Amino acid sequence: MTKSGIYLDYAATTPVDPRVLRIMLPYFNKKFGNTMSLHSFGQEAKSALEESREEVASLIGAEPNEIIFTASATESNNLVLKGIAWACRNKGKHIIISSIEHPCIMESAKWLESQGFEITRLKVDKYGLIHPDDVRKAIKKETILVSMIHASNEIGTIQPIKEIGKICRERGVYFHTDATQSFGKIPIEVNSMNIDLLSASSHKMYGPKGAAILFVRKGTKIEPLLHGGGQEAGLRSSTVNVPAIVGMAQACRIAKKEMKDEGRCLTRLSNKLISGVLRKIPGSHLNGHPKKRLPNNANFWFEGVEGESIVVQLDLLGIAVSTGSACSSAKLEPSHVLLAIGLKHEEAHGSLRLTLGRWTKESEINYLLKVLPEVIKNLRKISPFKKSFKF
Ligand SMILES: Cc1ncc(COP(=O)(O)O)c(C=O)c1O
Repeated sequence: MTKSGIYLDYAATTPVDPRVLRIMLPYFNKKFGNTMSLHSFGQEAKSALEESREEVASLIGAEPNEIIFTASATESNNLVLKGIAWACRNKGKHIIISSIEHPCIMESAKWLESQGFEITRLKVDKYGLIHPDDVRKAIKKETILVSMIHASNEIGTIQPIKEIGKICRERGVYFHTDATQSFGKIPIEVNSMNIDLLSASSHKMYGPKGAAILFVRKGTKIEPLLHGGGQEAGLRSSTVNVPAIVGMAQACRIAKKEMKDEGRCLTRLSNKLISGVLRKIPGSHLNGHPKKRLPNNANFWFEGVEGESIVVQLDLLGIAVSTGSACSSAKLEPSHVLLAIGLKHEEAHGSLRLTLGRWTKESEINYLLKVLPEVIKNLRKISPFKKSFKF
């Protein structure tokens, strides 16, 4: 429970872990040097940066010099799509993504399309799974990049990344995965999983906003988006945000130690939440895969109610939840992910995403299970859609 109530929107962003905040503070006003300066202030900042790089790299089995720090996963994803497109355009102009990517991949791909690139958007099944065989069939001579989300930010489905990566490796095509929701939550190993490029963001894993990474396998051809002082091996010029990066590294250190136990605990709580909702609320359905899902994600659609109304009613009761991804829930369009798994517009509008985290307590899940059935019942009484559903 936070000061203002129960927070069940950890996929949108997480609070900074106090252990992370503590380590960051000196880097704002005591160890504040610019990593490019030759004097001792600069060198102190530079060593903090390089230690952080080692820590982050070790969480995914990468080499430290394969980690590029950026400011957000949005930036990392833009860098991958546009940077690979530009660097490899003489080899080919075909890129494969899935139909359930985050908007920063979808929109970058759309922009590349307007610049003459060809984009294939692979379909997913009713659980949101991409089938590796579809990737195999879609790759052609001109394909330069396959980019697939690791775990869905909306429905939590975890993709068969290792198999997809293997296919890309065999066909000599770069493979990128957007691991923003899975990084620090489930094990990732870039070598055994055949990953060439990977994006992740600090604020989704108890670190601060303003730090993120792009893992770039040694030898990958990629052009920068930002030109300037040549920081981050020339791939991301800008004065380095040392406090945020030191914070992200500490979040990785904690994740490495606690991921297993935390995952087990979150799986137990989310299973309780899922079975409780499905049992107590008639006309409720789980979105995403029942087993191949993130330990902290539960996503439902409810017949005859609008997700936004549920969010408002729960907020009045002190519970913060979401209808979909943080980035698209402000629009009133149904989520492209829910449409991709086969939901009709009115079904997708009735969706609710509950994402648990490090400080979620069982008592909070019990409280939610107590109030949600009543909220849905009351909303259905005034629902304009009530005739289209039987519940
Ligand atoms: C899967 C995924 N990719 C990318 C992003 C964008 O991350 P950032 O907020 O760091 O730009 C998000 C954020 O919701 C996400 O969930």
